[in-house]
Amino acid sequence: MNWKKLSSQELRNRVFSALKRNKNYAEEMVLGIPASYLDPKVFHPDDKLLEDAPFLSTMVQNPNHIGCHTLDSSESFFQGTQEIEREAIAICAEDILRAEAGSYDGYIASGGTEANIQAIWIYRNLFVQEYNAKPGEIMILCSEHSHYSMDKAANLLGIGIRKVKIGNDFIQDVDSVNYELDEAIQDGVKYIIVVANMMTTMFGSVDDPEIYVKTLGEKGLAFRMHIDGAYGGFYYPFSNKEYKLNFETHYISSVTLDAHKMAQAPYGTGIFIARKGLIQYAQTKEASYVEGQDSTLIGSRSGANAIAVWMILSTYGPYGWIEKIFILQKRTDWFCEQLKSLGIPYYRNPFSNIVTMEADALSAEIAANYGLVPDDHHKPNWFKVVIMDHVEIEKLEALINAIKSLQIA
Ligand SMILES: Cc1ncc(COP(=O)(O)O)c(C=O)c1O
Repeated sequence: MNWKKLSSQELRNRVFSALKRNKNYAEEMVLGIPASYLDPKVFHPDDKLLEDAPFLSTMVQNPNHIGCHTLDSSESFFQGTQEIEREAIAICAEDILRAEAGSYDGYIASGGTEANIQAIWIYRNLFVQEYNAKPGEIMILCSEHSHYSMDKAANLLGIGIRKVKIGNDFIQDVDSVNYELDEAIQDGVKYIIVVANMMTTMFGSVDDPEIYVKTLGEKGLAFRMHIDGAYGGFYYPFSNKEYKLNFETHYISSVTLDAHKMAQAPYGTGIFIARKGLIQYAQTKEASYVEGQDSTLIGSRSGANAIAVWMILSTYGPYGWIEKIFILQKRTDWFCEQLKSLGIPYYRNPFSNIVTMEADALSAEIAANYGLVPDDHHKPNWFKVVIMDHVEIEKLEALINAIKSLQIA
């Protein structure tokens, strides 16, 4: 276990000692970097405030975490806070996603979109370099409920994409997987980049990776599998202890998690983790002025984001995190009971905190008043409630009362 609960004093000490190991723009010779501390004319550093604020202090000191720090070497200027990033990655990879120590690489990306594109970029390059594949022979296979970052990836990387239908049970329809793959083979596709969902954006539903693996095996297609846990990565592993979308499953090669969703971290805290030996396929050798070169999509990125992720996880510790998810599960159970008693049709995966209601059972006014999110702003079929920390029972009760009033009217 890398993951330990720390007191606020321990957190402060750890971050401040890491900052001391970074090169300090103000106090040391850092003459060649095109960056500095945050502009004091604008941000007015208040020493008293910063004394007790490790995250803000890191923001002000402004370390750049460019590159990937689980590889052999990286920029030495900011090695103190890079070490904390490595610890955050280790918690995610080993304690949440069950990887063996030292068997992975990873970094804090700008978000789920970047982490998904990073995975697909790696596999496209792998198929080109190792199998001599042409871009037209490589295709993304995901579901109709997958996030649109897969479409961005296909467009940017010049490869195809096919989406399988989701059945009434909210997992992939086997006939549709067969159909899409047969069509792809006819189009000359030979190499498949599978993206399976660990909680979808709109429904919180979870794909069955075995459906993809079995069908791809039957057709003799080479594939690599990435898990999109941008939403579910900090939730599902805690609500469903039997979950399989992790590194114990041998055919899963990489995972996206997003700390800026369920982990309530600042935006800019997507997390990409892949088995060792893969991230090199995204290495840009031309990045010769960067120590250790760059194997990430983003380039420069704030070290403060890594500190935020590490601080959040270390404040809770593993048991605190289980409790946090337990409470959200209970609230979600309560909300579903109320919907059931009102006869409102909805979908909820039993291990998820997303409840998606059929739009016909609600009104546009209720959706607007309660900040519900539709599947399609032009023609909503569904509205979702995401039971986050701020979505307390009192707020859910107000929504239930509004639905009751609508039913009476
Ligand atoms: C399942 C899933 N994947 C990827 C993303 C993209 O994440 P981001 O907006 O952080 O780029 C989202 C965002 O909602 C998501 O729900």
